[in-house]
Amino acid sequence: MARRPFAALGVALLALCCFKGAAGTETVVIGTAGGDVTLSCQNASQRALVVEWFRGDPDTTPILFSSDGTLPDDTRFSLIGNASLHISGLRLQDESNYTCKEVLNETDHLHRIQLLVASGPDRIGFQIHPATPLPNGTLYVKKHDILNFTCTAVSRPVPTIKWDFCPSGSPHELFTEVNSSQNSYILHNMSPRYQGNYTCSAKNPFSGVQATVTQELLVYYPPPSLPQCWVQTSTDNSRGVQLFCQWTGAYPHPTLRWRDREDLSGREINATSLADTLVATLNSSQLFHEKEFTCHGSHILQQEAKATCRVQLVDPSIMSDPVRSCFVGRAVVLTCYLTAGNPPSRITWLRNISQPETEIRSSGRFHVSQEGNTSTLIIQNCSRKTDEGYYVCKAENSVGLREMYIHLTVTEPVNIGGIVGTIVVILLLGILVFFGVFLYAGHRFCPKGTLLRTRDSSDILVLMDSEDEDVLTEGAGDPAWHKAMVRANGHATWPTEMKVLGSNSGYPWYMSPFSHEAC
Ligand SMILES: *[C@@H]1O[C@H](CO)[C@@H](O)[C@H](O)[C@H]1NC(C)=O
Ligand SMILES: *[C@@H]1O[C@H](CO)[C@@H](O)[C@H](O)[C@H]1NC(C)=O
Ligand SMILES: *[C@@H]1O[C@H](CO)[C@@H](O)[C@H](O)[C@H]1NC(C)=O
Ligand SMILES: *[C@@H]1O[C@H](CO)[C@@H](O)[C@H](O)[C@H]1NC(C)=O
Ligand SMILES: *[C@@H]1O[C@H](CO)[C@@H](O)[C@H](O)[C@H]1NC(C)=O
Ligand SMILES: *[C@@H]1O[C@H](CO)[C@@H](O)[C@H](O)[C@H]1NC(C)=O
Ligand SMILES: *[C@@H]1O[C@H](CO)[C@@H](O)[C@H](O)[C@H]1NC(C)=O
Ligand SMILES: *[C@@H]1O[C@H](CO)[C@@H](O)[C@H](O)[C@H]1NC(C)=O
Ligand SMILES: *[C@@H]1O[C@H](CO)[C@@H](O)[C@H](O)[C@H]1NC(C)=O
Ligand SMILES: *[C@@H]1O[C@H](CO)[C@@H](O)[C@H](O)[C@H]1NC(C)=O
Ligand SMILES: *[C@@H]1O[C@H](CO)[C@@H](O)[C@H](O)[C@H]1NC(C)=O
Ligand SMILES: *[C@@H]1O[C@H](CO)[C@@H](O)[C@H](O)[C@H]1NC(C)=O
Repeated sequence: MARRPFAALGVALLALCCFKGAAGTETVVIGTAGGDVTLSCQNASQRALVVEWFRGDPDTTPILFSSDGTLPDDTRFSLIGNASLHISGLRLQDESNYTCKEVLNETDHLHRIQLLVASGPDRIGFQIHPATPLPNGTLYVKKHDILNFTCTAVSRPVPTIKWDFCPSGSPHELFTEVNSSQNSYILHNMSPRYQGNYTCSAKNPFSGVQATVTQELLVYYPPPSLPQCWVQTSTDNSRGVQLFCQWTGAYPHPTLRWRDREDLSGREINATSLADTLVATLNSSQLFHEKEFTCHGSHILQQEAKATCRVQLVDPSIMSDPVRSCFVGRAVVLTCYLTAGNPPSRITWLRNISQPETEIRSSGRFHVSQEGNTSTLIIQNCSRKTDEGYYVCKAENSVGLREMYIHLTVTEPVNIGGIVGTIVVILLLGILVFFGVFLYAGHRFCPKGTLLRTRDSSDILVLMDSEDEDVLTEGAGDPAWHKAMVRANGHATWPTEMKVLGSNSGYPWYMSPFSHEAC
């Protein structure tokens, strides 16, 4: 992309400055190699009789040519308007100090012209090391690399070389500028921020001619981890699956391929690529339990090491309690755990009696929920007539189906309050009868205080309501009996314990109210 500076250049004449010397006037003229230049004998007057040109000092060098007809051998030199020296096709060796001598009436006048010939910049060289070219000429480097940027150019005099960086969509940034034929700089720890277009410009300080080279540089980095594979049921409601292969974190995106493990031809499965994810859609005819698919990934920076991941299709498996029970009017929770299955299975609950294939959905007394791999069916207000029977937990994915029966029994709860009431009444009747017999028999005997206690470890103890408590308190109204009770029990908490009565087995524990003191 170097711009050639010498295209059809006409007369290039650049008078930069003028010096006044003691011996006459002095001028600097800059010409461009290959171009033309005219050196004018500045003060040549119309009255000048002859103008003579010298290359160098008139005293020491022979005359180059004179306006009176002496022509130089080199045809590139010519005289314009009787006084000016014209040189065409400038060469570097034409650079010299020229002197013109006006021969006036009787006096001579000297004028010195310093001719500088500028050339270039030419052969501009651009290197970024180490970098790898892509087919389109763009270079890429690896993130964190140390890069040496070098730009060289040949020019006379030495060029001004600068490096510009132009990130995509941002303004230019000047890196370095030197007056030298080579400009190198080192970038440590290359980061993606430095991806963009780099421009090296070389400028001839005399002619102002500039040449530039632009190079696009990309900063690549490999994926930090391995590709991830997973399978999902197709979203289009068919029984097919979608295989996902994702390999993130790389630039540029990696190349991914899905293959059937059993297909030994290694044929690729048709798939759609979305950036760093490859999705293959398979319909159910290609699917069965334990079939395996492999995703092969490759990245431009990891071409030797192939990365793979695989998915295996698995039938669903479930686990659940086969039997559950519920009291009439109470709630019961049926749970079903998914223990295997790929793609993830959908769990549904069905009734096996009245509506065999109707899915139970959350409504009314039923509440169905799924959290992770566990599905829960809650039945509230159990009814023996409608709820007892078999329930089916069904797990289904694109590969298979698994069902499990759960039997629900609905039972009447035992009426403990009724049992306790009956026992208390019997107990009180017993006490009354005992007292009756005792009063009737008078003081003929005085039985020892006894504490009888039968208690089954599996007894269910129930707190009685306050009415029953009152009855008991009245029955135990005798303070003597109270004292005997405290002594026998070792502590004074008996009224509370007395409230705790009743037993499933029908054997209540009771206190005998008799003591020696009462005699
Ligand atoms: C030469 O020309 C300059 C202006 O171009 C003038 O100032 C100077 O006096 C002239 N010199 C002679 C010797 O004529
Ligand atoms: C050049 O000199 C000749 C005579 O020597 C004259 O006739 C002619 O007009 C001059 N040309 C210019 C441009 O001064
Ligand atoms: C021309 O003159 C300048 C001083 O005015 C000097 O530095 C330079 O070397 C000279 N060039 C040549 C080619 O002699
Ligand atoms: C040139 O010289 C002649 C005679 O020598 C004189 O007459 C004339 O005026 C001079 N011209 C100038 C411009 O000096
Ligand atoms: C060159 O190819 C790379 C990778 O294919 C691309 O990112 C870049 O934009 C291309 N550059 C140009 C200038 O086309
Ligand atoms: C950068 O590369 C250039 C050209 O290959 C070389 O001259 C220069 O010494 C290098 N710079 C460093 C710091 O290695
Ligand atoms: C580099 O420049 C080319 C052409 O101007 C442009 O298409 C490309 O996007 C630039 N690259 C970057 C990374 O900015
Ligand atoms: C390069 O040279 C020019 C003129 O000779 C000067 O103005 C400029 O400051 C120099 N630049 C550097 C970076 O040295
Ligand atoms: C893959 O896609 C191509 C073009 O879309 C089609 O020709 C080819 O039959 C497909 N292969 C399979 C196995 O579906
Ligand atoms: C599976 O998909 C192919 C095209 O992708 C289609 O031709 C074929 O009928 C499908 N088979 C089933 C069973 O849907
Ligand atoms: C669910 O089960 C699958 C295997 O079938 C397992 O990979 C996954 O980690 C489980 N998820 C939870 C949340 O337990
Ligand atoms: C569930 O219903 C099916 C048909 O409706 C029947 O064949 C099966 O025996 C029933 N299972 C149980 C456990 O009741």
